[in-house]
Amino acid sequence: MPAYRAPRGTRDLLPAERPAWRALADLARSLADAYGYREIETPLFEQVDVFERGVGAVTDIIEKELFRLQPRTDDAEAWALRPEGTAGIVRAYVQHGMQTWPQPVRLTLLGPMFRYDRPQAGRYRQFWQWDVEAIGDAGPAVDAEIVELGLRFYREAGLEDVEVHINSIGDPACRPAYVERLTAFYTRHADELPPHERERLAANPLRLLDSKDPVLARLNVDAPVITDHLCDACAEHFADVRAHLDALGVEHRQEAGLVRGLDYYTRTAFEYYRRGREGQQQALGGGGRYDGLVELLGGRHTPGIGFALGLDRVILAQQETDLEVAVERPPIAVVVGADPAGTAERLRVATDLRAEGLHVRADLAVRKLGRQLEAASREGAHFAVILGDELSEGNVQLRDLEAASQKVVAIDDLPALLQRKSRGG
Ligand code: HAM
Repeated sequence: MPAYRAPRGTRDLLPAERPAWRALADLARSLADAYGYREIETPLFEQVDVFERGVGAVTDIIEKELFRLQPRTDDAEAWALRPEGTAGIVRAYVQHGMQTWPQPVRLTLLGPMFRYDRPQAGRYRQFWQWDVEAIGDAGPAVDAEIVELGLRFYREAGLEDVEVHINSIGDPACRPAYVERLTAFYTRHADELPPHERERLAANPLRLLDSKDPVLARLNVDAPVITDHLCDACAEHFADVRAHLDALGVEHRQEAGLVRGLDYYTRTAFEYYRRGREGQQQALGGGGRYDGLVELLGGRHTPGIGFALGLDRVILAQQETDLEVAVERPPIAVVVGADPAGTAERLRVATDLRAEGLHVRADLAVRKLGRQLEAASREGAHFAVILGDELSEGNVQLRDLEAASQKVVAIDDLPALLQRKSRGG
């Protein structure tokens, strides 16, 4: 057992896994470009206030899961690692006066997030999100555009069975009356509620709607439904979002219990699931509208909407489905030599080939040719460039390790020949 291990809930992503991650990041970036989202990077930590005000002080993410950083001095600001991307992006929108840019400002970020959660499959303390945010557009068309963008990402990542669940959770005009109704409903059943759900009833009754507790699952069948209590403006907005999705041919499932775990949401809320895997920890991604967040973080009233897709869960889903994912690319050639000590020559020839843009490695160990060739084969290289006596006439032996054939080639012809082979010619 090694003395040190990666902290619980985190893991090392080893070289063999990285190409699949890189392919997802490339896909996210190319879709972001196609849909007009511009890249932003925000710090991995922010003032705690940004998250408390943004995400909401009485949420699991802040109460239980925030990684708070130990201040070095008494008067230092309180900081925390970011549990999600939206609050930091909106903080940046306000800080940099982006309300004076053409609206909406479309931003995207791909990076690690941190939540002190109980680790289990698909739930980590450091995980990766692809986040997009469109700030400065009240919708409803942009809502549909964003929902479709998420589905397109899953489809192109090879997950054909991803569905979107959607709901409207109203706004400050209509939600308080609904929450009162809901509280009255649960209070009538308070005796049946497990203690931790009773606590949540006092703090945030909406959260009981998506509880997985069997008692609540039974009660929730009769709970008042938020979409029956929306004000006219929210009801019309939701109907319009759905009409836009229909116009795009995007199937969507209206889910009365979908309320999301962050306080900043208004109106549209949505989550992505694989068909038949709707358990609480299984959401592949989620998002929604946050029309009050810019103002909460000190800006002018500005509507916004976005999503974050959990990349760890996409990778897990790809593995479960046995999808063919990107793998590491071996070098096209390894430069080896008859003289075990001729490392300077091998290094020089490989460096020249790399300068031509080729993916080539040199064997830099002082060992016999046979051992060098074995290592090149094990690595999966297509060719071995063998340096021997012919080098004085400007030639090398080129061995095709896959076809087990060998021929003499002028060293000047090597780059063009290997380039052709790299392209599969
Ligand atoms: P969220 O639903 O908290 O939303 O997270 C989005 C996704 O991140 C989840 O659906 C899940 O795939 C992934 N995720 C969350 N926690 C973990 C974890 N502990 N381990 C692995 N994956 C995880 C947000 O974060 C919002 N900021 C989304 C948003 C953007 N809303 C508007 N704009």
